Formats: sequence, structure tokens, C-alpha cells
Amino acid sequence: MTNRYAVIGNPISQSKSPVLHTAFARQFGHAMQYEKLLATHENFVETVRRFIDEGGQGMNVTAPFKLAAMAFADTLSARARTARAINTLKFGPGGVQGDNTDGVGLVSDIRDHLGVVLENRRILIIGAGGAARGILQPLIEAGPAHLLLVNRTESKAHELLDACGPAAGAAAGPLDAMAEGAFDVVINATSASLSDVHLPLGRGSFAPGALAYDMVYGRGDTAFMSDARRLGAGRISDGLGMLVGQAAESYRLWFGCRPDVGPVIAMLR
Ligand code: ATR
Repeated sequence: MTNRYAVIGNPISQSKSPVLHTAFARQFGHAMQYEKLLATHENFVETVRRFIDEGGQGMNVTAPFKLAAMAFADTLSARARTARAINTLKFGPGGVQGDNTDGVGLVSDIRDHLGVVLENRRILIIGAGGAARGILQPLIEAGPAHLLLVNRTESKAHELLDACGPAAGAAAGPLDAMAEGAFDVVINATSASLSDVHLPLGRGSFAPGALAYDMVYGRGDTAFMSDARRLGAGRISDGLGMLVGQAAESYRLWFGCRPDVGPVIAMLR
């Protein structure tokens, strides 16, 4: 039997999900049909229902439906609840299961693929929008010595951290708190890279050998990445590995086995 999966969004033509999941399926010899579904806010529920009725087993969800998918799911994972967004749905006899694999995709990219230790290190997250919300809890769970969340609108950073519940060693602050702190891992979760805006990073932002990680991909060297290099970060990464990592976690949720991300990241590069 062919397994039917899809990604739903608007726009959707740019999505790399079919390429990723088809490559994963090939690693295991799974038969998989993976399609792109374009929906509107008006017909989102109807489009997902039809896909389930036609035998669909799971779905990735991308903008602007990550909240709508949350309302649609019958059960939610804890990480989906804290992220307040869904990127993965699994359809089964027990109903519709909703999950968010973005954060674990990022953590596995940093830890397993890039080989950078998070435990007992100093982590800086810049931004408190949707992208930061998806990664905050998994990064706290990775056990850093200190995690600082900064945002242009400082109150949003405090709200986001408070929503995660008590977390030892975690703090929120204004954007300019990033200039000092000698962080081992600095993650740009703002949309500043999309508009080439420079963030107030300084030499004091980076510990020796620090990793600077931009969650965007496919935009070459962003302002954040080139600033980080100039200011002494030891390693620079875009978010392509996170994209592949979140897909690999979705795949694991559906099939119970985790694909090898290395060859797929290499293929996309
Ligand atoms: P989404 O939820 O889709 O990620 P968002 O809520 O607009 O979008 O979040 C974008 C993030 O990038 C926010 O943290 C935003 O900061 P504010 O909360 O102060 O708006 C941040 N951001 C966007 N442009 C920025 C800029 N020029 N400098 C610093 N931060 C910026």
C-alpha cells in the first residue's frame, strides 16, 4: 500500500517538504506519495478532511495554517502546546494528533549534525515571534547553563518565557542585552534576516568558538551571519539543517524510524 502524505500551506509551491520526505522514504524503502496542498483560511478544514477521507495518513503544516491546525487536532503534544503552533499532523484511529517538530529539529541540527554541545552552555535567542516560540522549550530542555531571550519589544520576550513555566537559568531582556554575555550559541529567530537589518551584536556577544545560527535558509550569507563572522563567532550556520531536522522528526512520528539527515542536507546544498 502506498502511504499518502502532504504539506498544506499558502503559498505552497516553494515547499521543499516533498523532496525531503521522498528522500527519507527512499532510505527505508517505504512506498510514499507526498503532495502539496494549497488551501485558504476558508477551506483549510475541508481540504484536510478530504485528504483524510481519501486515505491520507499525515500532513505537514506550514504558514499560515499552524494555528488552524492546532484547533483541528484532537490531541496535542506538550511541545505543540508550548509552541502554540502545529507543523505535523498524524491521522489514525485515535483521531488527529498534532505535533510541532521545529524545536527538536533545531536542537538535533545543532547537537547531532553540527556537533555543538548545548548542555551547560550559554545560549542567546534573538526574537520572540512565532519562530522563537517553536524552539524555546526544546532549547531549555537541552540543559543550558544560561539562556537569554531578547527581543526588540522586550515585553514579548518576558511573556514568551513566562508562558514556558519556571526555567532555571533562563532570562528575558531587551535587544541591546545581546551585545555582552559571551554566548556559546547565538540563534537569530527574528525576521530581520528577511530585510537585511543589522542586529546590535558586538564582539562581547560571542564566546570563543561560538556558533551563530540563523533560522532562515536559502538566502546566502545574511546580515546576521556576516556580522557574526566579523565579530568573532567561530562557526556560522543557516537554518537548512533545521528544515531537514524538523522534517526528519515528522517522519519519525509517522513511521517510527528516524532518517539520516546528513545526505539529505548535502543534497539540498
Ligand atoms: P512571526 O510570528 O511570523 O515570526 P513576528 O511575530 O512578527 O512574526 O516576529 C518576528 C520577530 O522578529 C519578532 O521577534 C520581531 O520583534 P518585535 O516583537 O519587536 O516585533 C523581530 N524583528 C522583526 N524585525 C526586526 C528588526 N528590524 N530588528 C529586531 N527585531 C526584529
